[in-house]
Amino acid sequence: MKRKVLSTILAASMVATMAVGCGGGNSAQTDAPAADAGTEAPAEGGDAAQAEAPAPVAADQEGGKIGVAMPTQSSERWIKDGGNMKEKLEALGYEVDLQYAEDDVQMQVSQIENMIASGSQCLVIAAVDAGALTTVEAQAKEAGIPIIAYDRLLMDTDAVSYYASFDNEGVGTAIGEYVKTAKDLDAAREAGESYTIEFFMGSPDDNNAVLLHKGVMGVLQEYLDDGTLVCKTGRTSFEDTCILRWSQETAQQWCENYLTGFYADEDLDIACTAFDGFAYGVKAALQGAGYTADNWPLITGQDAELMACKNILDGTQTASIFKNTSLLADKCVTMVEAVMKGAEPEINDTTTYDNNVVVVPSYLCTPISVDKNNLQEVVVEEAGYYTAEELGL
Ligand code: BGC
Repeated sequence: MKRKVLSTILAASMVATMAVGCGGGNSAQTDAPAADAGTEAPAEGGDAAQAEAPAPVAADQEGGKIGVAMPTQSSERWIKDGGNMKEKLEALGYEVDLQYAEDDVQMQVSQIENMIASGSQCLVIAAVDAGALTTVEAQAKEAGIPIIAYDRLLMDTDAVSYYASFDNEGVGTAIGEYVKTAKDLDAAREAGESYTIEFFMGSPDDNNAVLLHKGVMGVLQEYLDDGTLVCKTGRTSFEDTCILRWSQETAQQWCENYLTGFYADEDLDIACTAFDGFAYGVKAALQGAGYTADNWPLITGQDAELMACKNILDGTQTASIFKNTSLLADKCVTMVEAVMKGAEPEINDTTTYDNNVVVVPSYLCTPISVDKNNLQEVVVEEAGYYTAEELGL
């Protein structure tokens, strides 16, 4: 933490440093990728039509084949998501074709084409790139195969029947609130003090990332505006902080560059990251730059992955957002039952998730902030998500 006067002086030198950094020294990889056209937050209350409830696919028939398309096995949460969906659907008598696309858009398109060709009667999709599946989604619709969007909204299509996710803006709000409370930003403002902060936000082709950034800034923008928070790189917009495909490596590289280019004389106090994978990258960059427990920053994340939980307990990550993927799978399974048998799925949002074509009826689960004070209670005792042993407790 520094007095604001010092920050102001540094801000002036930062502008000079940035000019040098952006113009020459930094490699192309260090530039934040620009958000592409499909990444804009859907207009609230726009004129997109309400998605219609589909006719049941196989009302009088037991079981059936469900295609489950997941984005990647590179992060633990999706492995859990895929496993949960397979287990819960199989328990209800369905055959499950579970595929992971390893963050490769074309691979995911081919996997979905194969699911259609091999007789899947319903598709559950967590997209690699939410706007890149419109052709294959139209093929599914043409073949009478309903689609459920899993965790990530499917954009620019009328072929999606339901959406199961978390309150994605709420995830961002929870991250922002965590930073605000943990650093007592109101007290810092009163005292004329400030903290340095950098942002590592999610993929521009994932609607969740746009909403998360909106939620974070809904809490933190006022502190950036009045100088209680100082972002020395100047990168606070979604376009400047989004990291394509949620890449841990890119987060690490950006953090290394930020520390070298902007934090040679002053410590980074807060790394506001949107994903546990980013928190791991930031941790590695900080260790490489010689940070220790004495000047370790507050680091946020998302997903409460096992490694993140261990890092929270040993102090190398401060907080995460716990999203119980087992509950999410339960909700998604009720949607599969709805489209297969005409059952009524539980819906708790019919206005927020406008995908530019239809407003998709959604069920949003509630995210929970965790840190070392409530991790055991929330994640182990209440949710049974990990055992105490897995966490080394
Ligand atoms: C999910 C997050 C996850 C991220 C990276 C997002 O769509 O909502 O929970 O951390 O993807 O995998």
